[in-house]
Amino acid sequence: MSTALYELEGVRFTYLGKFPALTDINLTVEKGQRVAVIGANGSGKSTLLNILDGLIFPDSGVVRFCGDVLEETSFREERSNRLFRSRVGLVFQNPDIQLFCPTVKDEILFGPLTLGLDTAAVAAAFDEITAIFGIKGLADRMPHQLSIGEKRKVAMAAVLVSSPDVLLLDEPTAGLDPRTTRDLIGLLNRYHAGGKTIITATHDMHVVEEIADVVHVFSRDKTIIRSGRPDDILADTKFLEEHNLIHIHAHSHDGTTHAHPHQHVHHDHLHKNP
Ligand SMILES: Nc1ncnc2c1ncn2[C@@H]1O[C@H](COP(=O)(O)OP(=O)(O)OP(=O)(O)O)[C@@H](O)[C@H]1O
Ligand SMILES: [Mg+2]
Repeated sequence: MSTALYELEGVRFTYLGKFPALTDINLTVEKGQRVAVIGANGSGKSTLLNILDGLIFPDSGVVRFCGDVLEETSFREERSNRLFRSRVGLVFQNPDIQLFCPTVKDEILFGPLTLGLDTAAVAAAFDEITAIFGIKGLADRMPHQLSIGEKRKVAMAAVLVSSPDVLLLDEPTAGLDPRTTRDLIGLLNRYHAGGKTIITATHDMHVVEEIADVVHVFSRDKTIIRSGRPDDILADTKFLEEHNLIHIHAHSHDGTTHAHPHQHVHHDHLHKNP
């Protein structure tokens, strides 16, 4: 029997019947794997995460989660809905879509309390997660009155507090300051060491090697054009440039013009710009 967590075969998805977002996705995610999904704007990354979170369902093709087909009817039964929701957590790219409670504290406690987790354990998890993100002082604030980075931290805390087995993160480091980014990477790696599966969509090439064992690159055709190890893919600057993941800058030095890849990826692989 397969140990795969997710298996996607020939998955297609079109919004409103006219805006194609995924075309023929074949993908396997193993339990405990750290996966990065990269690609240009509009290439289908967020749509894929929404499919993996059971928020939308393919027009054709199959999505399996732990061997069972994930379809709309899988969520009609309260018990299986709750079980899936307790195992899989998605942090949205846009925190405004996710945040809806009157206070930050309510927001972070909503998920675990809805899932019926033990209240003492939830209180301890709340203390820990708010300390990690440095948002304890925001507990009584209204989420929609926070800065974008603060909203992002609250949205992340609201998912991590329930400690789901599978974390789906949509651009988690966008707009975070350097220290928070570092702390988040440390936290994700501790989660991974504890056996969690982490699937991250990101434009942040600096963090890919630190958060992923395997990378899937989406093309403009909204399908996976290449999968591989982060170091192999990040070293291929021509490929990254072709797929709009880095850009080449022209610079003048000593009267001659040179083209350098802009330092959006790991410094071992690229020149730094002066
Ligand atoms: N709600 C929507 N209604 C209609 N079309 C949509 C909707 N959301 C996304 N799309 C379209 O689906 C395609 C894939 O979008 P998606 O948001 O998955 O891309 P992405 O790779 O996450 O992009 P980004 O890097 O900008 O976050 C795009 O062409 C987009 O225009
Ligand atoms: Mg997106």
